Amino acid sequence: MSPFPQRVFSGVQSTGNLHLGNYLGAIVRFVELQKSFDCMYCVVDLHAITVPQDPIALKANTREIAAAFIACGIDPKQNIVFNQSQVPEHAELAWVLNCVARIGWLNRMTQFKDKAGKDRENASMGLLDYPVLMAADILIYRATHVPVGDDQKQHLELARDIAQKFNNDFSESIARNGFGEAFFPLPEPLISGPATRVMSLRDGTKKMSKSDASDYSRINLSDDADQIAQKVKKAKTDPDALPSEEKGLEGRPEADNLVGIYAALSGQSKTDVLGEFGGANFSNFKSALVDLAVAKLAPITDKMRRIREDETYVDGVLRDGAERARAIARENMNAVKDIVGFLR
Ligand code: TYM
Repeated sequence: MSPFPQRVFSGVQSTGNLHLGNYLGAIVRFVELQKSFDCMYCVVDLHAITVPQDPIALKANTREIAAAFIACGIDPKQNIVFNQSQVPEHAELAWVLNCVARIGWLNRMTQFKDKAGKDRENASMGLLDYPVLMAADILIYRATHVPVGDDQKQHLELARDIAQKFNNDFSESIARNGFGEAFFPLPEPLISGPATRVMSLRDGTKKMSKSDASDYSRINLSDDADQIAQKVKKAKTDPDALPSEEKGLEGRPEADNLVGIYAALSGQSKTDVLGEFGGANFSNFKSALVDLAVAKLAPITDKMRRIREDETYVDGVLRDGAERARAIARENMNAVKDIVGFLR
């Protein structure tokens, strides 16, 4: 048994265009987990500025993600919902962890390579350091479980490496300060279900992403029924009918993606979906997918819009969440200071 009390932490960047991948890969899990864990859900605005953001849009996007959390069913009273920049201990711990993490570890991160592109020298320092801040987000609360999409797996492995190295480097001081053998838990990624990696509707080999230039590549949580219908109808497919078994999806990334989306939205497995639609052509399947997506997403979109309009409410939720988060973060940061050897 782990000596650490169980706690869930996860984050979503306030970068706009919240999409079906974020919803199915992460937020749906956030909602489930609140039944059995103490959960903290954070709008990570410090991460957002690792690429340029318009300050006015950034504020609006932070409120939008908070509204989405609540509209999807996260209870901000039972859990802690807040924005990262209101809890300065995230950045403070990130500095200490920067001195634990190795440059070589960060240079290997595929997300950095993808986002920095060819002109790596010109990427912000923050973009390279992104995963260390992410480790700090988790470890400042000594969180044990982290629900994320598949694309964050490597960052979670790095967070575990950083936690492990901190525990090793400071083992004597950790024991001397009364924390036993390890101060940080090794956080466990929770990546499961049929939609841990939702792909672009235009290219089944590319991840659905907030930053794709084509809005037709993704379904945004802010899309209305007509937009959803148009995007699904235009989604790339292949000429064959749907297979009856999952094996038949191999080598057919677009078909695999649409079936995965249907499965996740309907709470079924891909096998169940193919049991129903095997042999169907794409136009029939797409019509069913439009109906399902609209039925599932329209209530969320409406609720999100209503919540977002009440700025005083949203800001109040974030402020209250940040105060509760800070109480935990401050205590853990003080412990880190004692362990590292800072006077306070
Ligand atoms: P962000 O905002 O880029 O993504 C938020 C969540 O959505 C998941 N996701 C996807 N899941 C399935 N299919 C997709 N196409 C897809 N695109 C995105 C991501 O995996 C993520 O779970 N680095 C994090 C934010 C973060 C964080 C943290 C997460 C900062 N600190 C600490 C956990 C713990 C991110 O990717 O945000």
